[in-house]
Amino acid sequence: MIFNFKEEDINSINADFEIILIQNKNLNNFSQSQELFKLSNYKGEGICLDLQNKVLYSELKSLDYEDIRLAFANAYKALKKLDIQSVKTKCVIGQCIVNSFNAMIQGFSFGAYEFNKYKKEQTSSSLKNIFISKDEINNKDYNIQEAYIGLNYGQVFSNACDFAKNIVNEIPQIYTPVKMAEDALNLSQNDSKISCKIYESDFLEQEKMQAFLAVNRASVHPPKLIHLSYKPQNAKMKVVFVGKGLTYDSGGLSLKPADYMLTMKSDKSGGAAAMAIIKGVSELNLDIEVHSIIGATENMIGGNAYKPDDVLISREGVSIEVRNTDAEGRLVLADCLSFAQDLKPDLLIDLATLTGACVVGLGEYTSAIMGNNEDLQNDFFKVSKKSGDLATILHFNPHLKELIKSNIADVSNTSSSRYGGAITAGLFLNSFIREEFKDKWLHLDIAGPAYLEKAWGYHSFGATGAGVRMCLSYLLYLSRNKK
Ligand code: BES
Ligand code: ZN
Ligand code: ZN
Repeated sequence: MIFNFKEEDINSINADFEIILIQNKNLNNFSQSQELFKLSNYKGEGICLDLQNKVLYSELKSLDYEDIRLAFANAYKALKKLDIQSVKTKCVIGQCIVNSFNAMIQGFSFGAYEFNKYKKEQTSSSLKNIFISKDEINNKDYNIQEAYIGLNYGQVFSNACDFAKNIVNEIPQIYTPVKMAEDALNLSQNDSKISCKIYESDFLEQEKMQAFLAVNRASVHPPKLIHLSYKPQNAKMKVVFVGKGLTYDSGGLSLKPADYMLTMKSDKSGGAAAMAIIKGVSELNLDIEVHSIIGATENMIGGNAYKPDDVLISREGVSIEVRNTDAEGRLVLADCLSFAQDLKPDLLIDLATLTGACVVGLGEYTSAIMGNNEDLQNDFFKVSKKSGDLATILHFNPHLKELIKSNIADVSNTSSSRYGGAITAGLFLNSFIREEFKDKWLHLDIAGPAYLEKAWGYHSFGATGAGVRMCLSYLLYLSRNKK
């Protein structure tokens, strides 16, 4: 898709179609379509297609960024079936111009996203050219430069999300840890500012990453530890992301029931997000050093599989009692977080589809933010709110920590209670965070929103790129606000 910002009146732009946004269900100003509105019983909610006048009406519920995204996503979804090449629309300005343009572009891009490579019928849309006029729907003074910045952010954010979605949607027989490593290498080969190092199992052995290795043992595919880095000159700080890259989670010997195993190709969403974030950071040319560490493996069954009752010695030297092999993500993350701390980050963020409990607790739309530093969590939460990613803070508490105590090892990989599973998983990870990084660490459980079995809002079925926008927004915030 090509986005063109035109510093001119909408009427002087030539395009095959026009999107008109309807606010407050007010249809009075559109005399050309009154008959159609009546005939189709359109009251200003959702969309209305006027083929005769080549206009698509789309409701804008409010000037909130999320409603801006939705209005354009709905519009694009309706138009992409038509045999047209271009569409024009007025820009919408909410609270901040940059964010508004960013949201508009995201709306188009999320509305356009489809993963249909395995279908005989390919529905590729001819609608590629989007003209956005300076002639805004709600008259406001604004700095044109900021419109261009927002336009660029929107494209970077959307492309990063598409990149993550394509990884997550790819099927497990194709998308193995080897493929994930190839994608990471390709990312660095296509972008001179990103470097990539892939570590194989002999390195993991050498590094004593026994928790990570145990999860991999019954898989026919070797594990990969992926390290992507972006190091600009004069970076003001160093942020390290750690992603759970389970290319398939069968549950291992604590095998998942059939219904729950389905969709577990999406257990690589944290890793995909970590890769997408570094791609976005580089395209934004941020003055922050960023690393992405991804632990890529499958969790399978077999004669050599790791077992409930095993005790594993992690890279940090903390011993782990395995009580359930389906709590594998935290084992891989434990060793990856250990590796990540050696990079001495100013901020350490892990992203993982870690627990079903998080989905039960927060619903399918919302990620959890956890950590030890309340100010950091609050800051991150505030920024995430405008990003399009939904998230909420879950607080640690000392009583829950009791639940992951083990009789035989330093910590158990499974809580002794059915309740509070998202937080006990977060607390498990906390056992691998060294004292000096306790306040610099955030854990994001994206299990709910990472993968959809039913489309909602402007998201289509399947992967959503969860975590990418909130992290990129937070990095932009850091870049602007930290000395
Ligand atoms: N990958 C799953 C978590 C998950 C569930 C992600 C649903 C997305 C949707 C994770 O590895 C897992 O199986 N966790 C177990 C932990 C339990 C055995 C302590 C869970 O949540 O049931
Ligand atoms: Zn699992
Ligand atoms: Zn998992």
